[in-house]
Amino acid sequence: MSRSPLYAVFGNPVAHSKSPQIHAGFAAQLSDPVRYEPRLAPVDDFPGHWRAFMAEGGRGANVTVPFKQEAAALADRLSDRAQQAGAVNTLILDRNGEVVGDNTDGAGLLLDLKRLEAPLEGARILVLGAGGAVRGVLQPLLEAQPSALVIANRTIDKATALAERFDIQGRVRGCGFEEIKGRFDLVINATSASLAGELPPLPDTLFDEGALAYDMMYGAAPTVFLQWAQTFGVRCVDGLGMLVGQAAESWYQWRGTRPDTTPILAALRADLR
Ligand code: ATR
Repeated sequence: MSRSPLYAVFGNPVAHSKSPQIHAGFAAQLSDPVRYEPRLAPVDDFPGHWRAFMAEGGRGANVTVPFKQEAAALADRLSDRAQQAGAVNTLILDRNGEVVGDNTDGAGLLLDLKRLEAPLEGARILVLGAGGAVRGVLQPLLEAQPSALVIANRTIDKATALAERFDIQGRVRGCGFEEIKGRFDLVINATSASLAGELPPLPDTLFDEGALAYDMMYGAAPTVFLQWAQTFGVRCVDGLGMLVGQAAESWYQWRGTRPDTTPILAALRADLR
């Protein structure tokens, strides 16, 4: 009897990863009984563990901390979006037996923003942060045709450098937090400030009417950024849906089908509480 296709998430640590639960949910929903396993790789031998996994018949994997850069080096080629992000979160064994390094974080964010019916086309979007998390989402955000996209960061040079790199139509600008001008329809926090329980020094005139505040981080309690945004009465959403969205995009790359993320997200949310 042939066994079900094998997938995995590689990380160190990996026990906390929600990916096995998410992909088990997709598999059940789509009646596509893949195996999806957490694989703990030692920090100094991810390639060895990847090769062993491939020898077992592995068809693809998600890659999490600390292997996202190393995964790029291991791939035979990179997708455009993985090159743009400078990191790989998904490895795909293609029909020719080549390993493709992909990054599904940006697509995952967009999937979640569309699910939320967030203001995108013609909207003014503010992205807080200019690190790895931002690099991967700028292109898909721009493809949604906002009227303006401002990148604000503590280290201003990093924001202006990113803005220059992605500004094809004069719509992207980089600045420091104190220089943010105007109001926005969508404000996305992609800084890791929330991890430290800190709030970037933001003006209190940030949100336009009907704005959405989105934090890429998630947890049982609202992040410091979302707690702050709540005081302005705007809609606040954390990044749990982005997590499910990036998983759905990985699944699509592997299996060619699109799971419904809503029930999976609801189950994860219930577990967080
Ligand atoms: P990630 O991959 O999560 O984006 P990163 O590349 O280390 O991680 O980027 C972290 C981002 O959070 C950066 O934009 C960082 O600002 P700097 O470029 O100035 O370092 C931002 N950040 C981290 N801690 C912050 C804090 N306490 N206040 C404001 N911004 C912070």
